Amino acid sequence: MTEPRPDAPSDPCREIGSIAAGLRARLEGESRAGLAAVRRATPAEVEAAKNAPKCGMRSAECGMNGNGRLSHSALRTPHSAPDSAEAARASPEAVAGALKHELAAHVHPAVRTLDLFEFGSAEAENVNRDEALARIAAEVAVCDRCRELAASRTHTVPGQGSPHAKLVFVGEGPGEEEDRQGLAFVGRAGELLTKMIEAIALAREQVFICNIIKCRPPANRTPMPDEASNCMPYLMRQLEIIRPKVICALGGTAAKWLLQTHDGITRLRGRFYPYRGAQLMPTFHPAYVLRNYTPDTRRKVYDDLLKVKAAMDEAK
Ligand code: URA
Repeated sequence: MTEPRPDAPSDPCREIGSIAAGLRARLEGESRAGLAAVRRATPAEVEAAKNAPKCGMRSAECGMNGNGRLSHSALRTPHSAPDSAEAARASPEAVAGALKHELAAHVHPAVRTLDLFEFGSAEAENVNRDEALARIAAEVAVCDRCRELAASRTHTVPGQGSPHAKLVFVGEGPGEEEDRQGLAFVGRAGELLTKMIEAIALAREQVFICNIIKCRPPANRTPMPDEASNCMPYLMRQLEIIRPKVICALGGTAAKWLLQTHDGITRLRGRFYPYRGAQLMPTFHPAYVLRNYTPDTRRKVYDDLLKVKAAMDEAK
């Protein structure tokens, strides 16, 4: 399996324009669902934003500062704060709120999101987690963002487990058995995952188990970058609702898409990465362990899991 290399955006202006459109759609959806509480700009703020200077980027399509929404400077770099003058014009709360939701919804290689904000936003505090997760599963069930996957799947596989889990496992994507049952990690790799969970004195019901993508790729191929990008918003929303203390990325694909890195799993595994107030531990995928069932591989995974358990126990 080749690892996906997220492509660089060809046109940043077009890219940000499409991100903004996605953001608007998502905010409206969340607002309808009672999840988002980002206030609308006042007419005065919209006017002020219209008069703000346009950004200096190339594309003629770019009017980000002219319509009172996000500025390029707000999205340009991983940890960049919005430009203060622009933020003041568009209202700091609106810019911060929009940025936060934007980054949660669209994890793109051009926009690294690590530590920019923490899971557990005020508006997520009071949601009924069962209902919120069920709503996402319902959206996933009718999702056709990836035409090929939507056409070939038997069931979508949103993920399952405790909505209050302190620990979330994230795999790559459903396999044949998962596609048949609509449940994550129920095939051979899933059996090993169950043993891994039990090895740290937990039960499957206590954790949440899901994947980077929610539909089985044909012949279990590695998810394509556009498929992962299409599906990441669902995962981000799940994590936002569950607010785990620890996330365990199973395998290179999960680690790469969550951490937005090209580093391989062998290099990444075994240590924690701060991830929005949670700690993220990459480890080998159970399917890899099955293919390389050596004492060394098993020891490494066990060591990683012990660290996961210790971090869970330490977390308040
Ligand atoms: N492999 C995965 O990555 N996820 C599953 O759900 C099953 C196998």
